[in-house]
Amino acid sequence: MSRYARLRSTMPPSTRGEIESLPSRCIEKDRVNQSSSLRRLLLAIESSCDETAAAVIDSERHVLSSIVATQHELHQRFGGVVPEIASRAHLERILPVIDEALRSAGAVLADIGAIAVATHPGLVGSLLVGLTAAKTLALVLDVPLLTINHIEAHLYSCQMAAGRNVFPAAGLVVSGGHSNLYNCRSPIDFELLGSTTDDAAGEAFDKVAQILGLDYPGGPLIEKIAETGNPTAFPFPRSFLKDERLDFSFSGLKTAVLYAVRGTPGSRAIPPPLTSQRIADLAASFQAAVVDVLVGKCEQTLDRTGRTTLLVGGGVGANTVLRQRLQEMAAHRGIEVIIAPRQYCTDNAAMGALGWELWERGIFSPLDTDVNPGLVRKRAAAQ
Ligand code: KG4
Ligand code: ZN
Repeated sequence: MSRYARLRSTMPPSTRGEIESLPSRCIEKDRVNQSSSLRRLLLAIESSCDETAAAVIDSERHVLSSIVATQHELHQRFGGVVPEIASRAHLERILPVIDEALRSAGAVLADIGAIAVATHPGLVGSLLVGLTAAKTLALVLDVPLLTINHIEAHLYSCQMAAGRNVFPAAGLVVSGGHSNLYNCRSPIDFELLGSTTDDAAGEAFDKVAQILGLDYPGGPLIEKIAETGNPTAFPFPRSFLKDERLDFSFSGLKTAVLYAVRGTPGSRAIPPPLTSQRIADLAASFQAAVVDVLVGKCEQTLDRTGRTTLLVGGGVGANTVLRQRLQEMAAHRGIEVIIAPRQYCTDNAAMGALGWELWERGIFSPLDTDVNPGLVRKRAAAQ
């Protein structure tokens, strides 16, 4: 069995391509030279955290393919993403995922006219795998390299969902590492207005899930269990909700859940047993607190910016209660809210269609571009 065949047999079925043929497909120089006038497809690559993803997108922003290989099963027993495991898994999966994206789109490398890749923010080792693949393809195919901000790409998935220009707008990105509010002036001009001062919303979902004995990632599981719970059972804090700052804090909420489960330090009171109903009530009350704060901060951002469109992206954007509450708020205020479709809320490469905005404007990155792993947070001095 060849090395590629062995690797392919370890891949989830959805990500298996005919990777035995990769070496020959990667260097189709003759075909590249012959068909340069036809090369108008964007190949987008995403590897910032624990999803290895590739997508092929045409100039109309039609997603011809979007392949996502999640690594959840590798990180589950640790209750969160282990960076070294993530980067090794990206390394194994990146070529099969790219190959599958091309195959599903009915495209070959010769059809690709530019490569977009998320370089910021994320885990350094994970980002490096995607960037190295992107640079290599850009070099071999002699096409432009486009580097994109993963968080801004989350907002761009709203543009793709709408199928029209949605800018200018206010924006909320709620993911595993970020809870950011934006004034989105254009698809390439995002002003960061606020961010979290500690845990991100998704991180809080994941940590609370761990406290409640649920698996990683916690968001979808908490959402499911909360369906049978009472959202008013526990009066959890809504940090910063009444504060004028466009910032978030979720660590106090997480600690409040912890104390409700294990008891308050210094108190002799023994908390009631963690029955399935109590878990459901805790999950529903926690979710209600997060949603209240997110919706409240979106309203403040709309007031502050005067925008009449709100874009929402990132993994927590898949949450049903949040989606409903945002729609209710939009109807009440007479504004438009565009939430990324669920499959484009969590990490994917289709949102790398943002690369088209760079491509059309000729904003290319050199081949010595590096990753920029740091979190996108508002600087204290800018407050
Ligand atoms: O955007 P994303 O896929 O990755 C990052 O860029 O971080 O977001 C992942 C986060 C995880 O924390 C996960 O628990 C959360 O999104 N999430 C959800 C839901 N689906 C995913 N949180 C609440 N409700 C959901 N349905
Ligand atoms: Zn993300």
